[in-house]
Amino acid sequence: MSTHTTTRALVTGASSGIGEAFARALAARGDDVVLVARSRPRLDELAGELRDECGVDVEVLPADLATPEGIADVEERLRDPGRTIGLLVNNAGFGTAGEFVDLPIDEEEREIRLNVLALVRLTHAALGPMSRRGGGAIVNVSSLAAYQPNPGMATYGATKAFVSSFTQAVHEEAKRHGVHVMVVCPGFTRTEFQARAGVDQSDVPGFAWMTADSVVEESLRALERKRAVCVPGPLYRVTAALSDSTPTGLTRRVAALVLRRSASH
Ligand SMILES: NC(=O)c1ccc[n+]([C@@H]2O[C@H](COP(=O)([O-])OP(=O)(O)OC[C@H]3O[C@@H](n4cnc5c(N)ncnc54)[C@H](OP(=O)(O)O)[C@@H]3O)[C@@H](O)[C@H]2O)c1
Repeated sequence: MSTHTTTRALVTGASSGIGEAFARALAARGDDVVLVARSRPRLDELAGELRDECGVDVEVLPADLATPEGIADVEERLRDPGRTIGLLVNNAGFGTAGEFVDLPIDEEEREIRLNVLALVRLTHAALGPMSRRGGGAIVNVSSLAAYQPNPGMATYGATKAFVSSFTQAVHEEAKRHGVHVMVVCPGFTRTEFQARAGVDQSDVPGFAWMTADSVVEESLRALERKRAVCVPGPLYRVTAALSDSTPTGLTRRVAALVLRRSASH
């Protein structure tokens, strides 16, 4: 039986994919939501739907979280004492693909700013008020890519390794203050991620793909169970366990072979 009590959740990257699925699932269970992404038209459309269908309060907060100004706007919203946030979902993120030496370095920096810096700053902004209140939760979206070095997506994998390590450490610190912090590590999930990253994953078999809805459903179940780590899907739980128990040198070389194979298709 669910022990959920209604809260107000702030979701980054809510205009598509996993973030949109989080916003829909949270609104459906009765939570008020604050929607963050760059695309105001997409957020406005989703906000209208959620108000009509779920009867919840929805705020739209457009922000580019790869910029200091965008991060500051969302930090300020997270610290607002009049409209407290009970759940933060740090989901906005993107990947770049190709040999690191060939990738434009400014885009690599933007990726680190969004996937790492924004997530760290927003976690900090949310955690202070939550710790003082003695309650709240933070979900940080990492990836299965966090489990091994990723030749072909070197920066992306490294940002997600950071997110997983950071989140698990803060999980241990925050539980003393009554705040639950969890990392989610999805595998291949059908969203706009692959197109934005410019990767052709047509050779990934159908059974390996998850939907954003099922990733979110498992994440919210894990959150209720106060897990530190959620790897959605049995296939990916086995993959993560194997990566965990295999020497890094071997997973690194296997990842390089797999990625070289898919790059040659
Ligand atoms: N799909 C997968 O296979 C997969 C697997 C593992 C992990 N993940 C992770 O899941 C998370 C969500 O990705 P997704 O798969 O749902 O991809 P997606 O459909 O491309 O969604 C990405 C979201 O992030 C937002 N975003 C991108 N750049 C932003 C910026 N500078 N500032 C604010 N928001 C920004 C996008 O909205 P705007 O463009 O409107 O800003 C969009 O709402 C990411 O952290 C990704 O690394 C995905």
